[in-house]
Amino acid sequence: MFSFNQKTQVIFGENALAELPGELKRRNIDKLLLVSDPGIEKAGILAKVADTLHQAGAAFHAYTEIEVNPSDTTMTKGAEECKATGCDGVLGVGGGSPIDSAKVIAMLATNAEPLEHYIGKGADAWANAPLPILAIPTAAGTGAEVSGASMINLIEERRKVDIFGLSITPDTAICDPVLTVGLPPHLTATTGVDALTHAIESYVCNAANPVSDMFAVRAIELIANNIKPAFADGTNIAARSAMLLASSLAIIGYAGLGCVHSVAQTIGGYYNLPHGLSVSVCLPTCSEFNISTVPEKYAHIARIFGVDTGSMSLSEAARSAIIAFRQLLADLEVSDTLASLGVQTADVDTLAKQCMLDGSTPPNPRPLSEENFRELILKLLQE
Ligand SMILES: [Fe+2]
Repeated sequence: MFSFNQKTQVIFGENALAELPGELKRRNIDKLLLVSDPGIEKAGILAKVADTLHQAGAAFHAYTEIEVNPSDTTMTKGAEECKATGCDGVLGVGGGSPIDSAKVIAMLATNAEPLEHYIGKGADAWANAPLPILAIPTAAGTGAEVSGASMINLIEERRKVDIFGLSITPDTAICDPVLTVGLPPHLTATTGVDALTHAIESYVCNAANPVSDMFAVRAIELIANNIKPAFADGTNIAARSAMLLASSLAIIGYAGLGCVHSVAQTIGGYYNLPHGLSVSVCLPTCSEFNISTVPEKYAHIARIFGVDTGSMSLSEAARSAIIAFRQLLADLEVSDTLASLGVQTADVDTLAKQCMLDGSTPPNPRPLSEENFRELILKLLQE
């Protein structure tokens, strides 16, 4: 049994940003809270969005304090600003962090309890419908523009948690590949590998189904064919467009994640690391843990990456996917390791415990124990 739904209206294409004012009218939004971060502001992307709103005479208030790993404090402050400035809709502009923050802010703006109250309570754990939520992704990565989850960094606990539900899934996503053109090569690489990993983990996870497989395979194909061209030439709009589509598709049809994300999210929260980078570093070794459980699927992924598996045994073909991942990271000049990111051997026990609590752990195709995570993290530390 599986269920499938897709709530978000996706408006996709070059210069789709021009559709924003019409969307606000259609959704009866009188004043928009624009949620973003200093990097997006500095890159001039926020100004483009603001110009589009100005030209249409649409009222808005900008809140641009979102951090790399957005905290409960910053999100709560955003909700206060949202209420104080009389905004009745929330737009996240950026990577996953501003978009995830927009979801939480929209929910907190209409619900009275502090954010901590809603954590760990399951889907849609709030009484009132959030304000309308819109999203404009500026990187092809998280797929946050079509997801119902929001990652929250609890700074004091050094831990990432999430809230989720259909009600905080964005109502509208405006996916304009032109806005991703300025993304630097390293970020293009790591956010793109994050999107790839969503598709891979969804494809191999224990909740995979015919619909999720269809989306995952298409996303993997698009990324395998376009991530290197987008990395090599950021202005290649065809490659940018394919990557942006793939990152949305991977999440629209997603069935679950797995141990790459368990470890990446745990170290990301503990050491405050960028999500795409954490995922990239973990992808080969954590995937290797799973190949014996679902070898056919990894063999298929290897073929999508152009490996000729014709003369290989099934286990060799599955293993060749891991080699392809390592080659991809080398081609994208992602040379970081867990050790170079500052992960400490002394923290391994704590990290392994946190991995067990991560929401990505249960769908992993091969069951994981705390000891498995300890071994995985130690192996990653030796790379
Ligand atoms: Fe991710």
